[in-house]
Parts: sequence; C-alpha cells; structure tokens
Amino acid sequence: MSVGTGGTSERARATGGRAHETAEGHAHAAAHPAAHLSGFGNQHSSEAVPGALPLGRNSPQRAPLGLYAEQLSGSAFTEPRAHNRRSWLYRIRPSAAHPRFVRADNGGLRTAPFTESEPDPNRLRWNPLPEPAPGTDFLAGLWTLGGNGDAAQRTGMAVHLYAANASMTDRVFGDADGELLIVPERGGLLLRTEFGVLRAEPGHIALIPRGVRFRVELLEGTARGYVCENYGAPFTLPELGPVGANGLANPRDFLAPVAAYEDEERPVEVVNKFCGNLWSATYAHSPLDVVAWHGNHVPYVYDLHRFNVLGSISYDHPDPSLFTVLTSPTDTPGLAGVDFVVFAPRWLVGEDTFRPPYFHRNVMSEYMGLIEGAYDAKAEGFVPGGGSLHNMMSAHGPDRETFERASAAELTPQKVDDGLAFMFETRWPVTLTRQARDADHLQSGYDDVWRGLERHFENPN
Ligand SMILES: [Fe+2]
Repeated sequence: MSVGTGGTSERARATGGRAHETAEGHAHAAAHPAAHLSGFGNQHSSEAVPGALPLGRNSPQRAPLGLYAEQLSGSAFTEPRAHNRRSWLYRIRPSAAHPRFVRADNGGLRTAPFTESEPDPNRLRWNPLPEPAPGTDFLAGLWTLGGNGDAAQRTGMAVHLYAANASMTDRVFGDADGELLIVPERGGLLLRTEFGVLRAEPGHIALIPRGVRFRVELLEGTARGYVCENYGAPFTLPELGPVGANGLANPRDFLAPVAAYEDEERPVEVVNKFCGNLWSATYAHSPLDVVAWHGNHVPYVYDLHRFNVLGSISYDHPDPSLFTVLTSPTDTPGLAGVDFVVFAPRWLVGEDTFRPPYFHRNVMSEYMGLIEGAYDAKAEGFVPGGGSLHNMMSAHGPDRETFERASAAELTPQKVDDGLAFMFETRWPVTLTRQARDADHLQSGYDDVWRGLERHFENPN
C-alpha cells in the first residue's frame, strides 16, 4: 500500500484541471512508476491533501476535511476476495447530488445484444475510420464495429474504434455497461478520472473500470484507436501455470493514478452509458472532485512494450494465448469472455518451423488491430488504425506472399520488431453493427489475400 502526495492535485487545481498545462506537467511523471501506484489488483490508497483519507475506517461519522464518503463497487459485495472489487472515494460533493438523467443521442455507439445484421462467417477487414468532423471529442468519436453477449446480462463485449480531434471540456463519461480497455493507435490521451490523471500514448493501454467517470483530453491534434468494452468479469492477469511466477505482463508494470481533484463550481455534463443508451445530467460542479481514495476498483495504464514475450526455443511456436496480456474469465475455467492479446517484438528461433502464425480455424472469434508497423502474417492491407475480423471457425492465416516467403526462408534467428498488433479474442462470434457492415472503409476483396496459394502436393505413389 502506498500513499500519493498532493503534487499532482496541486497542478490540477492550479490550472483548473484543464488540458494542456497539466498535460505537460505529466509528460515525464507518467512514464515513471513513482508518480503512480504500481501493481495489478492492489489495494491502493492515495490522498491529494494530507489527512483527507480516514484511517482505520471507511465511513467515519464525519469524514476528514468535510468530504463525503462514497463506495463504488465493481463486484457484488459477496464475491470471493480474489474477485472482489470496490473503492472508497472521499469527495467534495457526493455523486448523488445531480438532477434527473435524460436520454442523449447515442452517436456511433451501439451495444449488445447486436441484432442489426446477420452474423457473418466471412473474413472481413477495414481501413481506418475516416477523419472526424471538426470538434469531435473522444466520446463523440466512438464508433461501434460489433460485439456479442448482452450488456444488461453482463456478458460479452463490444469492439469500438474512436477518432477524435478535440478534447472533452465540460463533460465527463462513465460506462455502467462495462469496463473500457482503450488502445491508442494515434495521438496520446490524457485521462482525467475520478481517481487521478493517467496518460496513455500509442503503445500503451488504459483501462477505465465500470462506472468510473473520466474526461479525455488530447495530447496532440488528433487521436485514434480502439476500445474493447467488456461487459463481463473485469479483466485480470492470466494464470501462469508452468511458466512460473514471472513473465507475460508483470503486475508491477500496471500503474494506477494518484489522487487528483478538481474543485470547480461550473456546469459539467455527466454522460452515463446505461444498457446501451447514453443518458445525460448536468452537475453544478466537476464530478472529478475526489480528494482521496482507497481500494482496488481503479483505472490503470500499462505500456505494452513492457510485455515479457515468451515463446519456443526449439520448434513450432505456441498458441497465441501465450501473448495474453489481460483476460476476462467466465464460469468455465480457461474460457475467456474476451482476452486482450498483444503481438509484440520478439525473436523467432524455431528450427524446421513455419514461423509466422499458422493456418487455423478456431472456435474463438478474433478481432485484430494494428498499433504500429506491420503484422508478420500479412504482407499488406492490414494497416495501423484498421482491423480484421475472423469469426468463429473462419479459416485464416498467412497470406500467399507471407506463406511463400516463410516457407523458403533461411531459419536463422530472426527479430520481429517492426510492428505492434493486438487481438480481442472472444468466446462468442462478433456480430457487426449496420454501420460496420455498410462502411465505406470496409475493404472489398479481403478473401483475395488467400488466392493463389498453389497446390504443392506430390503423391509419391
Ligand atoms: Fe487467428
């Protein structure tokens, strides 16, 4: 357990919590674990003002400094300790002090159950989203590709993309339907959350837990990326089994923010995603007013370059489950609602081995995106900001060019270091939204990458 200092909040208050001055202030701090609370799933605590956090109890008769105590739970009260998530927030005003929520336009957001189009067994691939209209912030720039499950039943997931060119200013967003795993591809994000400030750049991921309110400010002129909305059990680290006590994503590299708050009396819109629709209420103050907190239901960031990639040092290569960063478990052991998997730079040394990803048909469904560079199973057409969908049992694998090259390659040790790709792998097929099915940026002719795979069979008899 560690306690944050008031340094971050001093900056936040001095600049009114606004974008760019404090963005600069965090430029170096964000990369350094000392400015954060380190560790996955820890019971963290942090106070922006000394003495704001009650000691020895959660809800004293009068909370310190005149603050209101509020619990935010991310699991049922009675779930086992290993799954139990909650945080206590000590804030200037309780979240309950708000007028009635009214329906707001959903924009490009859609939610499970996805019924707008027929589930499609075809292999599909998209180019990046088109540039958004001027003044589009992160929330307005969210665009749902598809998903599965049922948000109200807290099962399944959605694949969203976002493209934005403006910071959120007088509004914050909170998602009651699930947690948000944000994967920036272009442009850094400053995430001002109830728990403090996080910075996520391309190559990082950020996770906003269910219900946590946040505002996204852009560190550059534009931002683009991917979001996995996970309706199911919160993401956790995968078990390591025979791998041992270390490896893959190491817990200490997950960074939660230290407390930072805004003490602002001005109208701020709170947009709440609830059972698939956006609802809006305007608070008379900034709801990012948490002066101290403790708990384990917290936002965090993780630098994917820290991922400890493991692989074969003899022959073949393991299934890509070995590249799992985070997994959302279900009631069936080993069967994830959704896994977040990264294809990070790594050495390939397998002898007598076809080294790129092999041809396969899987019961799981795979949405892949590309953060930078190229992916070693596709020579072209799979571009940063774009994505591909290989649904349950669809046949896929290396394209013809990759197959020919890898089949003839000299098998000296080879570093794959020109790309950073990822996958949302889910147990249920992904059904598209109408806008994804009909999008101008849906590629035609994706099947052609597997054309021309020649017959090489020679029957010796
Ligand atoms: Fe695949």
